[in-house]
Amino acid sequence: MTPTLGVGLIGYAFMGAAHSQAWRTAPHFFDLPLRPELTVLAGRDAVRVADAAERLGWTSTETDWRRVLERDDVSLVDVCTPGDTHAEIAIAALEAGKHVLCEKPLANTVAEAEAMADAAARAAARGVRSMVGFTYRRVPAIGLARQLVADGRLGEIRHVRAQYLQDWIADPTAPMSWRLDKDKAGSGALGDIGAHIVDLTQHITGQRLTGVSALLETFVEERPLPASAGSLSGVAGEGMGTVTVDDAAVFLGRFNGGALASFEATRFALGRKNAIRIEVNGSRGSLAFDFEDMNVLQFFDGDEPAATAGFRRILVTEPEHPYVGAWWPAGHGLGYEHGFTHQVVDLVTAIAKGEDPRPSFADGLQVQRVLDAVERSAAARSVWTDI
Ligand SMILES: NC(=O)c1ccc[n+]([C@@H]2O[C@H](COP(=O)([O-])OP(=O)(O)OC[C@H]3O[C@@H](n4cnc5c(N)ncnc54)[C@H](O)[C@@H]3O)[C@@H](O)[C@H]2O)c1
Repeated sequence: MTPTLGVGLIGYAFMGAAHSQAWRTAPHFFDLPLRPELTVLAGRDAVRVADAAERLGWTSTETDWRRVLERDDVSLVDVCTPGDTHAEIAIAALEAGKHVLCEKPLANTVAEAEAMADAAARAAARGVRSMVGFTYRRVPAIGLARQLVADGRLGEIRHVRAQYLQDWIADPTAPMSWRLDKDKAGSGALGDIGAHIVDLTQHITGQRLTGVSALLETFVEERPLPASAGSLSGVAGEGMGTVTVDDAAVFLGRFNGGALASFEATRFALGRKNAIRIEVNGSRGSLAFDFEDMNVLQFFDGDEPAATAGFRRILVTEPEHPYVGAWWPAGHGLGYEHGFTHQVVDLVTAIAKGEDPRPSFADGLQVQRVLDAVERSAAARSVWTDI
């Protein structure tokens, strides 16, 4: 009989639903060393959390996350709340001896992220594991991209070009939400989506950003207060609120292996819904990825004869590709939610093996330092800022 892993999930909206799906699905498609149990879902409103638990498959509920940490039937706490709560919940959970999966960005400030990384290191010494939810690492095409770089198929990396483009607040009448409030979210497009492309480019290249020069912009500074709010949508109500975060971030960077990089994160790219676009050019080859075509990786092999060389469109749905063998026949495609399932698989496997999963809280802290350097650079007329 496979031993179980009792999970307590905090926050049940967008990420709460995506993570619930992953906890439910992972053991049905992957041979896991521990069987996750959807033990308890925590929210603040008793009626709504009970309704969510029923819908998402959780056995019980709590209306205070602290109660989840006191429960003996919970071994892992999954933090799916906005950034202003991550440090407090994650540190308390680690100190209570619970493994932690915490959504990205790790925290709202470098100081909070440092405290979390310290708590994670102390907990790891006691066999308690932690991971930050940079989920897009688990897209099979991203895994293949990383393998190609690690195998030397791109040679020396010279250019990294990364964009994360959305358009959900391009309309100036779109209402306020926690994502537009610095106290809740830490930053705007920068931390919400820019953090992903910082993590992804470092993950794919195996290199670290060493410095940045940045611009931040808030195009719409006042928005209607919400009558009701969804995760990335809402209905405008009475009165206006002030946007206290960036709407867009653009920055240049340098990697420690010598590559030059450009990054763009915006919620104002009309027509682009969730376009994570990454292109890497090396001395031997290039690769390109776009999440809006997430089962595909483009690869150019510079060793091929010029007459027939060209970007090839690799359909990343073969059993040889990362994670794919557990799913459907070749060509049948995966979607957004599969990355979350793969995240659960990697986390549970690491816990069972007694290993520290990646991306670690230390990795999350390093991304936080990049975000902080971007903000400091932008505030100082784009001055070059070391990380
Ligand atoms: N990995 C990814 O690709 C990805 C995608 C979207 C969001 N996120 C991250 O996930 C986190 C949550 O984002 P979201 O889009 O799910 O937000 P959301 O607004 O959809 O959900 C947040 C949930 O947290 C709850 N909550 C807030 N404070 C709470 C508290 N003190 N106690 C209990 N519950 C509380 C809210 O009621 C809501 O259920 C953020 O850190 C965000 O950056 C990650």
